[in-house]
Amino acid sequence: MTIQIITLFPEMFEGVLNSSMLWKAQKENLVKYKLINLRDFGIGPRQQVDDIPYGGGDGMVLRPEPLFEAVEQAKKTDPDAKILLMTPRGNLFTQELAREYAATEAGLIIICGRYEGYDERITTLVDKQVSVGEYVLTGGELPAMIIADAVTRLVPGVLGGETSAELESFSQSGVIEHPHYTRPEEYRGLKVPDVLLSGHHAEINKWRNANQK
Ligand code: ADE
Repeated sequence: MTIQIITLFPEMFEGVLNSSMLWKAQKENLVKYKLINLRDFGIGPRQQVDDIPYGGGDGMVLRPEPLFEAVEQAKKTDPDAKILLMTPRGNLFTQELAREYAATEAGLIIICGRYEGYDERITTLVDKQVSVGEYVLTGGELPAMIIADAVTRLVPGVLGGETSAELESFSQSGVIEHPHYTRPEEYRGLKVPDVLLSGHHAEINKWRNANQK
């Protein structure tokens, strides 16, 4: 699967895409990330990407031409990709959507919007407008990272086989997970629940089921 991200701030992604599970997914050729700098499609010698809003008002609005051209370039790489636009006005991103995207053969093209806004005509190219929560961020970059992370970890092979099967059942039921403990048995007076030290697997499973969030 290829995840292409159209952004004015590609440098924001370096740490996230090159660490932990996302780095491992790339190294093992399970997922490929491609950052597309919207500035490269800017207009004129100053590579302008935004302009003042028709009808007046504060702030600048992303112009349609750079956005359309960036999407067209991304489509050349991956004609079947689903196109997502990051916006607080979108549909809430859920584990179910993450599972759906991870399970399809199609890649993703994620367009990072900006808080001031984008020309509405870009929405004609988009399969889904997606929000990561009911709050307003300065741009779509952090939401794009959230989606890349949530989808990548569900791509077959990225997590260990047995763990991903487990996660699947958790996400089916909407349950997240039970609490975990590791050594030491007691720390600053805080004890690991006795049942986890008991070696009784049936009891441990019962405790875990009862303590799922
Ligand atoms: N851009 C700004 N805020 C956002 C949000 N909550 N979700 C997706 N994109 C956004």
